[in-house]
Amino acid sequence: MKIEKVTLTNFRNYVKQTMNLGSGIHFIIGANGEGKTNFLEALYVLALAKSYRVEDTDLIRYEEEFAKIQATITSGDRHIDLTMIVTEIGKKALLNNNEVKRLSDYIGNLNVVSFLPEDMRLVKGSPRDRRYYMDVFLGQVDRNYLDDLGKYKHVLKQRNELLKKLSETRKPDETLLDVITEQLAMQAEKIIARRTLFVKEANSLLADAYRGLSGKRDTFSIQYLPSISYDDPVAFLKTKYRQDLLAKVTNYGPHRDDYDFMLDQYSARSIASQGEQRMMVLALNMAFAEIVFKLKGEKPIFLLDDVFSELDATRQNKLLEYLDKSQIQTIITTTSINEIKKHINEKAKIYRVTRGYIKEEHLA
Ligand SMILES: Nc1ncnc2c1ncn2[C@@H]1O[C@H](COP(=O)(O)OP(=O)(O)OP(=O)(O)O)[C@@H](O)[C@H]1O
Ligand SMILES: [Mg+2]
Repeated sequence: MKIEKVTLTNFRNYVKQTMNLGSGIHFIIGANGEGKTNFLEALYVLALAKSYRVEDTDLIRYEEEFAKIQATITSGDRHIDLTMIVTEIGKKALLNNNEVKRLSDYIGNLNVVSFLPEDMRLVKGSPRDRRYYMDVFLGQVDRNYLDDLGKYKHVLKQRNELLKKLSETRKPDETLLDVITEQLAMQAEKIIARRTLFVKEANSLLADAYRGLSGKRDTFSIQYLPSISYDDPVAFLKTKYRQDLLAKVTNYGPHRDDYDFMLDQYSARSIASQGEQRMMVLALNMAFAEIVFKLKGEKPIFLLDDVFSELDATRQNKLLEYLDKSQIQTIITTTSINEIKKHINEKAKIYRVTRGYIKEEHLA
């Protein structure tokens, strides 16, 4: 998969920027605050119809009324035009210039995997961070998953409203709670099954990906920790009625699931170094890329923000070699050119960003 051409209009500190991108690796170099992350964010928003870091309206350039990202991508032998428009009152997604009503019909056309500063929270951060990261990936490759997740959240909201209401009565009639609990369990089962399968698929790839990058022998794997028992979720949820009524929210279910990142038999949460955490996230990206490839016959696009800091020269090279060999279209941002020169292969393209303006550089 490849972005051929992308145009940003009024997106954050970009007024108007068009870029023709080729295959392979693209470096975007710039000092702090010039627009490196913003550019990657634009591609992320184009793929996923929302930012990973802010509300939609923050994407609009100050004093402007809308932000727009437009791109032509090639996927196999298909050309697809994608457009995202964000205004103060909402956003629009267009596929080949036709507005798409359901975002689940839009997401998945452009597959991206990303390494963003926020992703450093993945290993040691909260369960919510991990769920979000995995859901973003699953949502891209499986539109049923995205729909199921939406339905689950809808039932969850209804159940929480009911819990609130029932908790205010002295002797709550649980008939309605039974019904809604069954609905919740039905959606939960689908989500748990998909997550279980995904972790299994990822685990068949992660150890090699991590070893390839780190040069170490540790086995990297993910452990899925569903918060409810899968055998009989309804029975399980029923045993939690009292607790739920007391808290006035649903305490168990896929919205409370977690994943543990393991190096050998140890939870990486308490042992992984900064560089190791980075390599784990990158190994996950590599596994994601393989899974996308299996499903679509094409690799996704890599968006790597400031990925080189905290990686030593050997690991930086390993990463670049991997990206080069697998012919993944990649955009990497970095603050300095010095570290690049060492490993650059003549195939990579180099751009300089200054105050929201990107220009290709030709190294002597
Ligand atoms: N909506 C907006 N309109 C105009 N400018 C914005 C908007 N949102 C952010 N900016 C500006 O964009 C600038 C660049 O931000 P960006 O995060 O892309 O920097 P960066 O090049 O990644 O820097 P760093 O190396 O520090 O990560 C910031 O100075 C910020 O003030
Ligand atoms: Mg940045």
